[in-house]
Amino acid sequence: MIGNTSNQGAPSQRGVERPGSRKMPIAVLVSGRGSNLQALIDACALPDFPARIVLVLSNVADAGGLARAERAGIPTQVLEHRLFASRQAFDAEMQRRIDASGAALVCLAGFMRLLSPEFVAHYAGRLINIHPSLLPAFPGLRTHERAIAAGVRFAGCTVHFVVAEVDAGPIIVQAAVPVHGDDTPDTLGARVLDAERRIYPQAVRWFAEGRLTVEGKIVKIAAPPAAPGAAINPPTEVRPQR
Ligand code: GRF
Repeated sequence: MIGNTSNQGAPSQRGVERPGSRKMPIAVLVSGRGSNLQALIDACALPDFPARIVLVLSNVADAGGLARAERAGIPTQVLEHRLFASRQAFDAEMQRRIDASGAALVCLAGFMRLLSPEFVAHYAGRLINIHPSLLPAFPGLRTHERAIAAGVRFAGCTVHFVVAEVDAGPIIVQAAVPVHGDDTPDTLGARVLDAERRIYPQAVRWFAEGRLTVEGKIVKIAAPPAAPGAAINPPTEVRPQR
């Protein structure tokens, strides 16, 4: 069923906008449990956060993310892709609904659908995604399993602008986490997810503050905070001699 569960009568989002608010309206697309969505909901509840969620849209009717949005009083919509004749038709309807919401930024948060070139082009420069690897390593699925099998010492996550090629757009922010010798995809995934919840709201904040510009493959951040020094895993036991 193509549903619209917009809950106009629900309590308003905690700490968020009123009509005329200067917070940037954003839409979040989800297919699953929605822990990244929750991080965005929590961030948007902060009085000084410069964005507000105006729509959570899912292609999966029982996605956990929808319940999280409803609890926060955010309008939700369900649009089941299998009821559309083509990817283009589904994406066009999704685009119509997102644009009707007034969203200025679209955040993919575990949205498990490939997007048509038309959809990606329509939102060029205002469509971002979070991916559970240190791109360009391990694009695609089963990232934690593949990172462990490759023997890498660090895994992580990436927030990036979306381009036509999957998991290939300009990188906004990344977090690295160590891979432990006894990690399973689940234990590594949990560590990465913790980092995801930190970097996605940060990327949205920078975008909404107008601090991001894209030059080719490179994202420039106006007045970025200083990065810490090298992370080494396993930690070194030898100190360089001067
Ligand atoms: C996250 O690992 C995200 O990086 C990937 O899909 C997963 C979604 O998890 N794109 P959740 O629905 O946010 O909990």
